[in-house]
Amino acid sequence: ESAFIHRYEPATSAGSPPLLLLHGTGGDENDLLGLGKMISPGSALLSPRGRVLEHGMPRFFRRLAEGVFDEEDVRRRALELGDFVTEARKQYGIAAPVAVGFSNGANIAAALLLLKPDALAGAILLRAMVPLSDPPKAELGGKPILLLSGQADPIVPASNSAKLAALLSQAGARVEHKVLPSGHQLSQADVTLARNWIGNVD
Ligand code: MLT
Repeated sequence: ESAFIHRYEPATSAGSPPLLLLHGTGGDENDLLGLGKMISPGSALLSPRGRVLEHGMPRFFRRLAEGVFDEEDVRRRALELGDFVTEARKQYGIAAPVAVGFSNGANIAAALLLLKPDALAGAILLRAMVPLSDPPKAELGGKPILLLSGQADPIVPASNSAKLAALLSQAGARVEHKVLPSGHQLSQADVTLARNWIGNVD
């Protein structure tokens, strides 16, 4: 069962990669449409709502505490999201998307990259952390990944985002990791960096 409530907006310009928009805890399928348009105007936007509820707040997988994940659920939900992407690609006739994930959405995108690399063409991971303590050996074959972390992020320690960058690089991804002078929240710098990055990705 991989039906997700979602929004889909078709591309308005050929040649822009489709984006898979993955919201943070308490967000929904509408949250990141504006961000997606700012990052890559013209891209098709595929935006699912996380199916796990935490006190009524949608998320993409269960956690035991902030930053402590139910890893069995992470694995199951990431594969379920991968199935959704496969079905949506058929339904809408789109190429493998570049994920744009924030916080919990970035963490499920990182898990998806490690568990089912073919699902994504690349990823922009905003405030992501290591999603699995014992990840499978993934082959990311040069996939482009932009990881943007906040220097004063109370949820993601610097050592954790550095570890994620290393993990993805060792799996063969082309990782660009930048640490911004911000906390867990996004800033204008995130938008500018993401927009420039996606414009130059091949
Ligand atoms: C998570 O649960 O994925 C992280 O703690 C980030 C968050 O959603 O706050």
